[in-house]
Amino acid sequence: MKDVFSYKDNELFAEQVALTDIANQFGTPCYVYSCTKIENNWLEFDEALNEIPHRICYAVKANSNLSILQLLAKLNSGFDIVSQGELERVLRAGGDSQKVVFSGVGKPAEEIKRALDVGIYCFNVESESELERINQVAKQQNKIAPVALRINPNIDARTHPYIATGLNQNKFGIELALVLPLCRQIKNMSNLNLIGIGCHIGSQITEIEPFQEALDCLLELIEQLSAENISLKHVDIGGGLGIRYRDENPPSIHDYVFALRNKLKERKFDIILEPGRVIVADAGILLTRVEYLKHSNHKNFAIVDAGMNDLVRPSLYNAWQDIIPIYKNDFSKQTYDIVGPVCESSDFLGKNRELAIQPGDLLAICTAGAYGFSMSSSYNSRPRPAEVLVDKDKMILIRKRETIQELYMHEEGIPKWI
Ligand code: LLP
Repeated sequence: MKDVFSYKDNELFAEQVALTDIANQFGTPCYVYSCTKIENNWLEFDEALNEIPHRICYAVKANSNLSILQLLAKLNSGFDIVSQGELERVLRAGGDSQKVVFSGVGKPAEEIKRALDVGIYCFNVESESELERINQVAKQQNKIAPVALRINPNIDARTHPYIATGLNQNKFGIELALVLPLCRQIKNMSNLNLIGIGCHIGSQITEIEPFQEALDCLLELIEQLSAENISLKHVDIGGGLGIRYRDENPPSIHDYVFALRNKLKERKFDIILEPGRVIVADAGILLTRVEYLKHSNHKNFAIVDAGMNDLVRPSLYNAWQDIIPIYKNDFSKQTYDIVGPVCESSDFLGKNRELAIQPGDLLAICTAGAYGFSMSSSYNSRPRPAEVLVDKDKMILIRKRETIQELYMHEEGIPKWI
């Protein structure tokens, strides 16, 4: 597919909408997403999986805007959630609770109760004590909770250590040696029904082998379980497929699915996937305006109106995201650190970027659709940015820019203590 963010006469467009028009109408900083790209990414998964029973459970944490969830719900997507907040978003967006898997290591009792009330598809359980808690909550409600065990297969996903989750040292999943005894134990827990097994070994994984290894490990467990007459409805291979931010060469969605599906053909269970980043990352940019240029004997800084509070990935993971001008020109380029207004030296969006820019110019920080807005904060009391969805020639405001008053409204109208 042609890139949905492309230049026409040296001006950058999102689908058929000029990004300058979005900046003029909604201000900056502003996240802009392409509807077509999100749909196509999701459909690529669905089509590649067409011959095997499957469910794509989009990982809501990547981008949890209601309109985006709605778009995916219309495609019949399932959802992977990690909190009640995410669950309520999915329901509000018209998502089907029967297609929800609930992941995460720290599910509180009230959130388990709510998930049972609305009838989610299953809980991805990460510890013995969580199993006990779910059993107890289900018992109080006179329900049987569907559960799947998330395994920690101790596989190196070869990604940034902060987003690797499948190694023994990580807090996630159940250690391999404990899985079979726990499965046997579940049989004796009155209010649990074991329906699946799964894993999620990390994020931004750019090779196929770790996924294959993880799947082999799950398939072996399934065989051991069936030898004990424990049969499962599904295997969940998690999310984690990486994308190209700079020069990475991740497998395409198609190649990733094909590498795994050969192992799954002729099996009698469903496969669940939990992709987040690959669905939304390359469908989004962060639009920002240059406020000041600052030159010293050591460095050139372009100070822009977006900061680490709007997009934390560069400062948190030292992540690279391309930064490109909205208008291309032939002026001579200089090397800049692109930094925000936040009072931290870690407040950078990109270092050593070659750009020909002036104050007032607009820039796009690319591949910002995943873990961009969803990780934003109002640090330095900066209202969070607006979000705009582009659908062909239409621009739709899908989240208003936060207002200053909204920053402190929860601190007002409460008893004075001084
Ligand atoms: N399933 C589970 C249980 C997860 O924990 C995650 C992501 C996913 C699925 C989706 O993974 P994806 O397909 O998006 O890689 N903030 C980091 C990424 C953190 C990922 C956390 N878990 C970043 O900006 O790179």
